[in-house]
Amino acid sequence: MSSPRYAALVGWGMAVPQRLVTNEELAQRIDTSDAWIRSRTGIAQRYVAGPDEPTSVLAAAAGRAALTRAGLGPEAVDTLIVATCTPDRPFPATACAVQRMLGMGRGAAFDLVAACSGFVYGLSVGTSLVRSGMSRVLLLIAADVFTHFIDWEDRNTCVLFGDGAGAVVLQVSAAPFGSLASNIGAWGAGETLMAVDVGGTLLPTTSELLSERRQYVYMNGREIFRHAVRGMCESAEQAVREAGVSFDAIRLVVPHQANVRIIEAVAKRLGLPMERVFVNLDRYGNTSAASVPLALCEAAEQGLIAPGDLVLLTAFGGGLTWGSSVVRWGCE
Ligand code: COA
Repeated sequence: MSSPRYAALVGWGMAVPQRLVTNEELAQRIDTSDAWIRSRTGIAQRYVAGPDEPTSVLAAAAGRAALTRAGLGPEAVDTLIVATCTPDRPFPATACAVQRMLGMGRGAAFDLVAACSGFVYGLSVGTSLVRSGMSRVLLLIAADVFTHFIDWEDRNTCVLFGDGAGAVVLQVSAAPFGSLASNIGAWGAGETLMAVDVGGTLLPTTSELLSERRQYVYMNGREIFRHAVRGMCESAEQAVREAGVSFDAIRLVVPHQANVRIIEAVAKRLGLPMERVFVNLDRYGNTSAASVPLALCEAAEQGLIAPGDLVLLTAFGGGLTWGSSVVRWGCE
C-alpha cells in the first residue's frame, strides 16, 4: 500500500498596491466619517490599486514571494491556481498571465471564482490535486482588485473594500502537514445578495447601464452579515470535527476579513476568545479572495503560528460561497 500523501504549505507571500487610502480621505469625498467606518466595520485604511497594478501584477508579486520563501524556482511549479473574481480580462485566465510573468514552465494554469471564499476553495482544490498525485508542487494565489468594481460615490460599499494578493506553495509530503480537513459550499439562491450585474453575458455593458452605475458592486449588507456568521460557523465546526480535533487544539483562527463585528460574532458562537482569532482588516479592509492569505502571511510573520500548529481558516463570500480548512502549519 502506498503511503498517504499530504499537501504541505512550504511557502507563503503577499503583495498590496502602493496607494494607501485612509478613512479620513474617504470622509473628504463622501458623506461618512472615520468614526462611523471604524465602529461599524473595524476598518481604518485600505490599499487601492493604480492603473499599473492589475490583478495579475499583484498576484505575480505574491506568488514570487511565496516561491522565494519555499526556496523553489518557478520551473518547479506544475500547477498554478489564481483565485480571483476580478480577472485582468474576461478571458483568457489571469493565471496564464501570471504564469508568463513568473517564468513558469508549461504546467496547468487556471482561475477559480469563489469571491471572498476563493482562497479556501483553492486550498481545498489544490490539496486534492496534490493528494491525488496530479500535482507535486502547486502555487495557489488569491488576488483581487475589488476596488475596480466600487462606486466611490456609494458610501454603503466603498468604505469596505481594498486590493491585495496572497499566495501559498503546496508541495507533496508524506507527513501530515497542510490541509487535514476542509469543506466548501455554496447557496446559489443568494446570488443577488451581493453582485456586479453588468459586464458579463447576462447584461453586456451599454452606455445606458453605465449611466445608471450598474457596473458596480451592490449588496444587502445586513443579510450578508447574517449569512456570513452562520456560514463560517457551520463550516468551521464541520472542518474541526472532520479533522478529528477540538477547538482547544486550534492555535489560531484566520477568518475572512470583511467586518470585525462578523469576526467577533463568529468567535463568540464558536466559544473562542478573540486572542486566538487573527484580525488585520483595520489595515487592509476586505480584500476579497486575498483576505485569508494576507492574514495568514501576517500571522506567520508575527510568529503567531509555528510549524506543527493547527490553524483554522474560514471564509465567506458572494455566491453565496463559504469554506473552511484545518491546516497543520509548516512542513517536515
Ligand atoms: N458612513 C456613514 N453612514 C453610513 C455608511 C457610511 N460609510 N454606510 C451606511 N451608512 C448608513 C446607512 O445609510 C444607514 O443609514 P439609515 O439608517 O439612515 O438608512 C446607517 O448607516 C446604518 O446602516 P446599517 O445597514 O444598519 O449598518 P450596519 O450596522 O448593518 O453596517 C455594513 C453596514 C455594510 C457595515 C454591515 O452590514 C456589513 O458589514 N455587512 C456585511 C457586508 C460585507 O462584509 N460584505 C462582504 C462579505 S464577503
